[in-house]
Amino acid sequence: MSALRLGSTAPDFEAKTTKGPISFHNWIGDSWAVLFSHPADFTPVCTTELGEVAKLSQEFEKRGVKAIGLSTNDLYDHEKWIEDINEISNVNLQFPIIADFDRKVSILYDMLDSEEHDATNVVNGIPFTVRSVFIIDPLKKIRLTIVYPASCGRNFDEILRVIDSLQLSDKKKIVTPANWMPGEDVIVHTDTSNEEAEKQFPGFREVKPYLRYASLPADA
Ligand code: BEZ
Repeated sequence: MSALRLGSTAPDFEAKTTKGPISFHNWIGDSWAVLFSHPADFTPVCTTELGEVAKLSQEFEKRGVKAIGLSTNDLYDHEKWIEDINEISNVNLQFPIIADFDRKVSILYDMLDSEEHDATNVVNGIPFTVRSVFIIDPLKKIRLTIVYPASCGRNFDEILRVIDSLQLSDKKKIVTPANWMPGEDVIVHTDTSNEEAEKQFPGFREVKPYLRYASLPADA
């Protein structure tokens, strides 16, 4: 298996999903994508997580991002579970969930923990995938990977925050500081000279030669 490094091409695959069969790269098209796995359907933390992603569907859409879930449950389980998620979170879950029953994608994306890689080690009849997240850009490059333990539900606002940071830094020569939130000051890229910074970010603030803050217009 080749390394899933940031900047490497996200492996392509074919899969069955709750929205029909997909070819991953074709499905992404010109959008960004968030591919995320959960351990298993009909488990409490996962139920809250997928409800949260459904609630944030407009936020993903605004940013041109398609979300897609994955577990090793089959399509029948996914469909039944979506009914529960919709009821519990009061949503209408529309993003596809991959039924990776044969673990093909889980192995390709290294989503199984070391024990679940052993085909004989299954819990409740299915191998558990860990809580992996991949942000993939329209060029199909991996831009973020995060792996959470099964016991901790993810913060999907953080995923949106990283997407905002990535999309902004693709547009402007900036990076974003610790705990940055959209609308707050950004950091001028270290490759940018002060002269160029003054043109691009008039009134930028130098704290150190390597730490220069700039405000961006609201529509940046
Ligand atoms: C859960 O989603 O609640 C969960 C799944 C697997 C292990 C532990 C918790």
